This record gives sequence, C-alpha cells and structure tokens, in this order.
Amino acid sequence: MEFSYLNPTQIHFGKNQIQSIAQDIPREQKVLVIYGGGSIKNNGVYQQVSTALANHSWLEFSGVEANPTVETLDKAVTIVKEQNIQFILAVGGGSVIDGSKYVAAAALHSGTGWDILLGTHTVSQALPLGVVLTLPATGSESNAGSVITKAASNQKLFFSSPLVRPQFAVMDPDVMKSLPHKQLINGIVDAWVHVCEQYITRPTGALVQDGYAETLLKSLIIIANQYPDRDNDAWRANLMWTANQALNGLIGLGVPQDWATHMIGHELTALHGVDHGRSLAIIQPALLHNQIDVKREKLEQMGRNVFGLPHSADLAEKTIAQIEHFYHSLDVATTLDQYQGAKSQVVKTILEQLKAHDRLQLGENQAINLQRSQEILERAIT
Ligand code: NZQ
Ligand code: ZN
Repeated sequence: MEFSYLNPTQIHFGKNQIQSIAQDIPREQKVLVIYGGGSIKNNGVYQQVSTALANHSWLEFSGVEANPTVETLDKAVTIVKEQNIQFILAVGGGSVIDGSKYVAAAALHSGTGWDILLGTHTVSQALPLGVVLTLPATGSESNAGSVITKAASNQKLFFSSPLVRPQFAVMDPDVMKSLPHKQLINGIVDAWVHVCEQYITRPTGALVQDGYAETLLKSLIIIANQYPDRDNDAWRANLMWTANQALNGLIGLGVPQDWATHMIGHELTALHGVDHGRSLAIIQPALLHNQIDVKREKLEQMGRNVFGLPHSADLAEKTIAQIEHFYHSLDVATTLDQYQGAKSQVVKTILEQLKAHDRLQLGENQAINLQRSQEILERAIT
C-alpha cells in the first residue's frame, strides 16, 4: 500500500449552505456561473446563488448538456478569455461540474481544449473552481476527474488533474427535492458501481479501504430499500454523502482499481445515449461473470460482508446474482435490449470505438482485451 493523499475540497453540507459561497469566492474575482438546462431556475437554486453573489461581479453560461460536449463548453472558454473571468462556479450535477473543470483548464491552455482529453496536453494550470451540487451521483464535486464528450465523433473521454479539483462544494440535500425519479436512481447506481470498481478486484488485506467500501455498499442497499419512503431529510442526506464518499478518492487509496465497466459503459452512452448510471448496470454483471475467476475472492467477501450470504461453493455466482437483484429492485435493466440495427453490428461498432480509444487492456489486471470486451458485450446486449 503506497500513496500520497490530499483532498482539499472544503465541503459545506446541509440546509441553507448555498449562502456560504459569498465568503468562499474572493470578492474581487470576476465569476462565471456555469449551469445546465435550467432546472436550477425552477427549484430556487439559481435564486439562492444570485442572492449569495449580490456583491460579486458575475456572468452566467447556461446550456451545458447531460454528458457535456466540448462543442458547447468551448463557447464558455471563449467567454472566460474575453471577459477575464477569474473564478468558475459550477451549479449542477456531474455534467455541469465536469464541464466546468474542462472550462477551468482549457481557458488557460493556448491550444485546442480537446488536447486535454486526448492526453496530448497535460493540465499545468487552471482557474479556481467552486461547486453547488444539485445531483448526488458522480462524486465530481470533490474529485479531480472529468468526462467530456465530442459530439462530432461520438467520443466520451476522461481526464484528471488535481488542478481542477473544486476548492469548495456546497452539498445541500434540499436541492434534491426537484430531482426526477430517473436521476435519483441513476445516482444510486452510479455511486454503487464507483465503490465496486475500487473494491471487486483482488484481496489486498487493506482493512480500512475494504471496510469503508462495504459500509458504503450497505448504505446504498438501505437507501435503495428505503426508496419508496424517500421524501425525508435523512434519506436525501444519506444518499448525497454516500455518493460523495464513493468517489472522493478515499476508498481507492493504495488498492487495485478496475474501471472497465466505466470504460465500456462510456461507449454505450456515446453511441446509444444510454444514461451513465444505466450503462454501468448493463455492463457490470456481464463483466463480473466474465472475470469471475480473478475476482472470485473479493466477490465472496462481498457476498459475506455486504449481502450476508452463507459460505457455499458458488458464493461468487450468488453475489453477482444479488448485485443484479439490487439493480432490478430499482427497476434498472441489466441488459441492453433497445438499440438500432443488428446486435452483431452494435457490438462491432463498440469494439471499434474501444480500439480507437486504446481501451485494449482494461481492468485491474489489464486482462480485458478486445476479445474479453466482445464476450462481455455479447452477454450484455440481448
Ligand atoms: O441540465 P439541468 O437542468 O441541470 O438538468 C439535469 C440533467 O438533465 C438534471 N438535474 C440535475 N440536478 C437537478 C436536476 N433536475 C432537477 N433537479 C435537480 N436538483 O439531471 C439531469 C442529469 O444531470 P447530469 O449532471 O448529467 O447527471 P450526473 O450527475 O449523473 O452526471 C453524469 C455525468 O458525469 C460523468 C458521466 O459520464 C456523465 O457525463 N461522470 C463523471 C465522473 C467524475 N467526474 O468523477 C465519474 C462518473 O463515473 C461519470 O462518468
Ligand atoms: Zn460513474
């Protein structure tokens, strides 16, 4: 176990915390408030942000899509450059936050912003960024990652830099009251898979990482079971905090990580418009079956410690069945059964994209090559 750890994001958690942004953003800095399609105009969040920024100089940029595109975000980059913006405030879910991270970095890069996603430019500076979170799911509010899509070529790529980790994140669970059912479910599934990607690998004896991962998984099971009675403060706070802790870096310290479900899932989103969380529920069970031999011990541990299953020769298989049951209990599909064209062509196109994006050795053992990805897709797509 070897790691260096620093997560400097200041978190303001709880009711009425949006007003704290007034203190956290230096008064003299010109702010660009970035948001999405307008949900914040209907649920009072925009009003709270405007009130808090009454004594700041600020502009706004709206229209960041779910699965944010570089085509849209580059318009914000132009505004930042032309208006000498010094601070970016992202108000939204993972898409708005990821998009704002891109803008913060691309605005200080003299070349094309997409270079950052291609890895041909390493972020060396970025504008400071703060977040008002409106959708618990990705953990983007206090991590260093960002996923951006190029619509022109259906590419959905990832970059990470400590320089774009938000300085602060406001997490007021009240903002979740306006979230559609579909987005709440997406958030539960995304957080669940984030934990799994850092936990269902191979045994390492890392007691803290394993123990905390198991606590987060058990919390998500309780949250899912309580879903019919979700209209209360405790439920919202628990989901918001669990989703944050699932991907703020802590449980992945010094342990092997998988992320193959995410890499293949991103192609499903880019090519077929499947919501991020739902793409993961489609890929993960097939991937776990495919990799069961190398993941058997951790699956057995999960079966015992998370689902409370008794020992049996097929404990790993039963654990995967429980994971599928978890998704089905939320009415989330574990196969892709609605798509355009023939299955063989759909699989082939995804494989071509994986190849184009150099996803030739995925997973904690780099063992998921294109052949394995094909097997996973054959199973996941009906
Ligand atoms: O556009 P607005 O009006 O904001 O509406 C959004 C959007 O339509 C809506 N919404 C958000 N908060 C709301 C609300 N509607 C009503 N009330 C509220 N309080 O929800 C819709 C989906 O929002 P989005 O931000 O796309 O969802 P999510 O937070 O699930 O983010 C998904 C994106 O994050 C990336 C995904 O790939 C995807 O692009 N990820 C980012 C990660 C990271 N940075 O660490 C890791 C994840 O694995 C993931 O890949
Ligand atoms: Zn995710």
